[in-house]
Amino acid sequence: MEKKNRTVGLVGCGLLGRIVAQDIAGGLISGYRLAGLTDVDADLAKQLAAETGGTFCAGLGELLAQKPDLVVEAAGGPALRELALPVLRAGASLIPLSIGAFADEGFCEEVRRTAEEQGVRVYLPSGAIGGFDLIRAAKLHGELRATIANDKPPRSLQEAVPYPLPEDREEPLFAGSAREAIARFPKNVNVAVAAALAANGPGETRVTVSSRPDLSAPRHTIRLEGAFGQAVIQVDPKAGENQRSSTLAAYSVLALLQKLNDTIVFL
Ligand SMILES: NC(=O)c1ccc[n+]([C@@H]2O[C@H](COP(=O)([O-])OP(=O)(O)OC[C@H]3O[C@@H](n4cnc5c(N)ncnc54)[C@H](O)[C@@H]3O)[C@@H](O)[C@H]2O)c1
Repeated sequence: MEKKNRTVGLVGCGLLGRIVAQDIAGGLISGYRLAGLTDVDADLAKQLAAETGGTFCAGLGELLAQKPDLVVEAAGGPALRELALPVLRAGASLIPLSIGAFADEGFCEEVRRTAEEQGVRVYLPSGAIGGFDLIRAAKLHGELRATIANDKPPRSLQEAVPYPLPEDREEPLFAGSAREAIARFPKNVNVAVAAALAANGPGETRVTVSSRPDLSAPRHTIRLEGAFGQAVIQVDPKAGENQRSSTLAAYSVLALLQKLNDTIVFL
């Protein structure tokens, strides 16, 4: 099988975008070349372009003019809403990280329809967790019950919760659907929406959010129960510079790109 030399465009050059760009440029995965990079913070994009040999693009239009085969979004929910349809209409496949935007059924459907019309795809990376293979298999036979718990250190919820959270005890903050969760915590529960999309959908999959001072980084736990039995998938990322994000989410984009070229494919 011929390994294509595909080109990747990147929107968002923050923590996760930087890892993706640097690893593609460094040759961590074979068969890919970095095309354009863009960010609303032009200096950030210029700097990353200089470091990686990618082309600085002043905006999405310039990036799409580079005719990338795939575009990675690492810029946030509002950016994903703006770029998804133009990217697909330009004939590029899309790898979004701000998957919370897909909790909006109308948007999700428009993206699906546009991708289908254009003959391109939307690849959802497993992001800060994993186990989408298991969820999809378990869902095929009988009812699947799925719950997703987001347990976070109080400081990683600072932006989302406008009052001081206790430092000496757990504080449950939310229980409801994944769709309600992303509306309330737009930057904190992308992973829950991604898992919910794989499971019973954002309106039907239960999500909890808790403040946990005993944790040094956000913990994600998916609990599944169905005809197959039971499963628990839990990830405790290493505490890092950015308490909101997990570097695993960037690695999951790189692993996804690698799968698209693999001969023996782990799905
Ligand atoms: N799917 C997952 O499991 C998962 C896990 C962690 C983070 N995320 C999401 O991934 C995204 C990136 O995370 P991060 O930690 O790298 O964030 P970050 O804040 O470090 O970087 C985001 C970058 O995007 C840029 N940006 C914002 N709006 C833009 C726009 N309209 N066009 C171009 N650039 C724009 C910002 O200037 C910034 O440099 C966030 O939305 C985050 O919530 C998803």
